[in-house]
Amino acid sequence: MRFGEDFIEELKSRVKPSDVIGRTVKLRRQGREFAGLSPFNKEKTPSFFVNDEKGFYHCFSSGKHGDVISWFQETEGLSFTEAVERLAGEAGMAMPAPDPEAAQKAQRQKGLVEWMEEAGRFYAAELGRVRGRHARHYLENRGLDEDACAQFGMGYAPASHTALKDYLLQKGANPAALVEAGLLIAPDGGGAPYDRFRDRVMFPIHDARRRLVGFGGRALSADAKAKYLNSPETPLFHKGRTLYHYPEARTAVRAAGAGGLIVAEGYMDVIALARAGIEHAVAPLGTALTEDQLRLLWQAGPDPILCFDGDKAGQRAAHRALDRALPLLEPGRTLKFAFLPSGLDPDDMVRQRGRGAMEDVLREARTLVDVVWERERDLVPLDTPESRAGLKKRLRDVSAEIANKEVASFYTSEFYARIDALFRRAPRRTSGRAPTRAFPSSDLRKIAKKSGAGLAEQRFLLAQIIAYPQILVDADETFANMPLGDEVLIRLQAAILEHWLASQTVDRESLRRHLTHKGFVDDLRELERRTIPVPEQSETDRVARWLQTAQNLIGRSGLADEQAARVKQLLDGLKRGDQSSLRALGASQMSTELREDDESGI
Ligand code: UTP
Ligand code: MN
Repeated sequence: MRFGEDFIEELKSRVKPSDVIGRTVKLRRQGREFAGLSPFNKEKTPSFFVNDEKGFYHCFSSGKHGDVISWFQETEGLSFTEAVERLAGEAGMAMPAPDPEAAQKAQRQKGLVEWMEEAGRFYAAELGRVRGRHARHYLENRGLDEDACAQFGMGYAPASHTALKDYLLQKGANPAALVEAGLLIAPDGGGAPYDRFRDRVMFPIHDARRRLVGFGGRALSADAKAKYLNSPETPLFHKGRTLYHYPEARTAVRAAGAGGLIVAEGYMDVIALARAGIEHAVAPLGTALTEDQLRLLWQAGPDPILCFDGDKAGQRAAHRALDRALPLLEPGRTLKFAFLPSGLDPDDMVRQRGRGAMEDVLREARTLVDVVWERERDLVPLDTPESRAGLKKRLRDVSAEIANKEVASFYTSEFYARIDALFRRAPRRTSGRAPTRAFPSSDLRKIAKKSGAGLAEQRFLLAQIIAYPQILVDADETFANMPLGDEVLIRLQAAILEHWLASQTVDRESLRRHLTHKGFVDDLRELERRTIPVPEQSETDRVARWLQTAQNLIGRSGLADEQAARVKQLLDGLKRGDQSSLRALGASQMSTELREDDESGI
């Protein structure tokens, strides 16, 4: 059987030699390659190398050399066809029907690619011409200078129905081929084909083999029908199997020492990230990630990070991607989720706050298991046995989505552990009295006793901030002034302030990560456990209630004006990044005595 060149190439791009070979030969990473003992000769020092980037293995001791297909031929005695079948099965590709015309088709595709490249050169040249001036200005305004445009092959499609067509016909193209390549549109009712992209900034899109297979075009005129327009599906371009900037990013991921690619939403995000030195980002082409795109991601590294807006819509999009990924999870390969501050995309982020801020967000990317756990846990209040059983069922359903048995079983046990932790020592409120101490820490008994009043309120105030860091926008000074009567609470307060002042982000997950890093895991759980849930509130009500409670507390504490001034001074120091202020803040609060009060609190 003959296979098209395309099919074989696609197959090879989908399987990593180190994965296939690593199953029988123990491989160790060595720079860009993997090294191991020769499978062909007995040896003590490794002389067998596998290179994923180049797609081959090489054995110095035997002189054998080949790709994943010849690997199976060589080691398992399969025929070429059998080896291809085997790999196609693994890569999830259907075997092509016997196609005597494969070679011819490949030839035709090659022709199409050449016209795509010719078109790319035309668009790029137009960007430098007079009629491309407004496109240049547009790009400049979005932070792309000439260098950046050149690096990304940016171009401009003139506002004409025939500019590209005339140019390419004069180069010898035939119109039918240009229609097939998606560059021209053939009108439904017959008639002369015309340029598809008009008055648009053009982004060339390459496939994994670095061939120019499609374009994305962003409208410049406000009354264009679609802001973004992509090439249609063509023999070359399959939107759902393509990621913008994939070939470059795949190479860069290794240089960056990253666990996988970064996935942003759009072209401009990818470009802005690359300009800021984060070169291993890709973007799908205007749709949610497909299974094929997920596979492409995993070929470049086991832990891709998907970036989403921190708002509700971003969270929903993350959940969609997560659901699509569950069935495809395998040992050692997962997804991570980075949530950006609400309303910012990676482009805004690096341009407004710099590379460091973006890297912080990426570093704080959340694991898949965390994100799915929280989604299910927070779906409905867990205040009845039925709702708790419901949680358990939903989590079992999540595990059942995972096709890989091993991964599924680890998810199941992880979920059970979390359920246990969540419901263990669930709050018992029989007396209606809140507990008198925030935490049963023996050194702190005295302080707690002395300033034990209002601890329930204090816990409420902290728990609200942790759940809704947004409150800090209106209330950070009050928060910093809040007198607390428990060391753990004071340390939490300081850690929250530290995070807020350093990042100015109100993202809940980011704050949680920070507190977790600081070692507050158990304290957070304890705080949650001891906090009385509040009914759903609007944001304004929430802030108002929070401020009211805090002010009561401050009032009752008898915090003298002079002391309040001192706290304010410390806070200002903190804002300037003075760490010693933080410790001083803790100390000043400890010495603040709270008036005795009843415990009913909140
Ligand atoms: P949006 O339409 O949300 O663009 O598409 P945006 O981010 O607001 O656009 P800018 O920032 O004003 O330019 C999000 C991204 O999805 C891709 C584009 O990369 C776009 O940036 N996209 C969207 C496509 O590739 N094709 C489409 O048809 C739509
Ligand atoms: Mn945008």
